[in-house]
Amino acid sequence: MLNDIQEVLYDENQIQQKVSELGETISREFEGRNPLVICVLKGAFIFMADLVKKITIPLEIDFMAVSSYGQSTKTSGVVKIIKDLDVPVQGRDIIIVEDIIDSGLTLSYLIDVLERRNAKSVTLVTLFDKPTGRKVELEADHKGFILPDAFVVGYGLDYAEKYRNLPLIGILKPEVYEK
Ligand code: PRP
Ligand code: MN
Ligand code: MG
Repeated sequence: MLNDIQEVLYDENQIQQKVSELGETISREFEGRNPLVICVLKGAFIFMADLVKKITIPLEIDFMAVSSYGQSTKTSGVVKIIKDLDVPVQGRDIIIVEDIIDSGLTLSYLIDVLERRNAKSVTLVTLFDKPTGRKVELEADHKGFILPDAFVVGYGLDYAEKYRNLPLIGILKPEVYEK
């Protein structure tokens, strides 16, 4: 698996350090607010699990599965809800946890859904941000690392469902998806 990686961008230690910092920031910001923390499946599952362990205030969690990439390295632009939330968001302070923002289409769609359901507030947390990929204007409230314009995998991010279990983030060798 690692031999399909062209370059490691951030290793396990660097990621864990950043996740801890984000956890501290969120703990301060949401003190006394009992936020509903939403994990955007599948990509965000590892970040979500690591992040909530670093948040020291009471919170609730839920999961939503959406997909726009399918088997491709390019977004289809059509976001599908594959699994919806189990709890109502009306009047709640929502924290959306994402692994990466690229075109911004997934999150702008989700924010829209949550606002139409009358969430009290929606805060975006992403571990990785690829600002050069944006197709819609969208900025995370808290972000970990800015990534270059390359196809990356690991720490939850997949190519055709593989590589999510790498503990690091790296650039996938083009020959892996060009063949
Ligand atoms: C990936 C990633 C983000 C989204 C970011 O999910 O996990 O959710 O794309 O891209 P965008 O900003 O261009 O919308 P994907 O659709 O591949 O589903 P997955 O999380 O199940 O891998
Ligand atoms: Mn995703
Ligand atoms: Mg994906």
